[in-house]
Amino acid sequence: MLMNNLFSKKSITILSILILCIITSIFLSYQMFQNSDPIPVPESSVIVTSTPSATVTRKPSPTETTIPIPTVSSTPKRVTSACVYALVNDETKKLLLRADKEMALPDGYEPEVVKLPLEYILQGWTEQYLIPETANAAMELIDAAKKEGHDIVIRSSYRSYQEQEWTFAYWVKELGLEQAKRESAVPGHSEHQLGQAIDLTSESVNWDLKEEFGNTPEGIWVDQNLHKFGFALSYPRDKEEITGYIYEPWHLRYVGKACSKEWYESGKTLIEVLKGIHLDY
Ligand code: DAL
Ligand code: ZN
Repeated sequence: MLMNNLFSKKSITILSILILCIITSIFLSYQMFQNSDPIPVPESSVIVTSTPSATVTRKPSPTETTIPIPTVSSTPKRVTSACVYALVNDETKKLLLRADKEMALPDGYEPEVVKLPLEYILQGWTEQYLIPETANAAMELIDAAKKEGHDIVIRSSYRSYQEQEWTFAYWVKELGLEQAKRESAVPGHSEHQLGQAIDLTSESVNWDLKEEFGNTPEGIWVDQNLHKFGFALSYPRDKEEITGYIYEPWHLRYVGKACSKEWYESGKTLIEVLKGIHLDY
């Protein structure tokens, strides 16, 4: 009986302590909830706002899963062509007119030309004319060649439409029509009418215009350096199918320094470069 009483008292005490504990913990939890600050953000988390670009404010830890941030792909490449720029520039577009087998110059095309100083032309030859840009470039080229020991002169330059008529007729008489067409342009189709073409010669080819010029030290120098002065070789070796003309290592056409560099580096014929930039085909 006494034992029974003792157990019962002990149980009541334990039960009371338990109830007290539960009440206290409920009360404390309630208090904490009432007074708590917003849950602090751990140092290593990533905050991403609605726009995903560049919104990382803190360095993510390697273990966290983060929202991938899109990277901007490299800027799209722009097509840049010095010849195209020259063609769309009012100052330089006239330098890139086409004068080839397919394309004639505009009717009555007559550029403003200047007379070349005698020291740059074949001695005892006729007066020679070029447009000013080409005249300056031709003199620069000839001066540079001279500095490196190459004596080069101009044998032919600007030819009017009528002069080209006489020239072509002369070659037809000399060679027959078929061969003349491989060597001389019909009137209206010659780069000489542009005032931008020069025919160069040297003593090693007897001051003539010959294919062998391409193998002389002067011809090799011209071939390797012409583009630095704004010239292109219009009729290279083995390109008759493209150009329509035999190899003319002596015939240079001025296109301006930027475009001539592009032509040289492209490895293409000039006619291919010019066809490529003119949108009228
Ligand atoms: N010899 C070149 C093709 C011309 O006559 O223009
Ligand atoms: Zn020529």
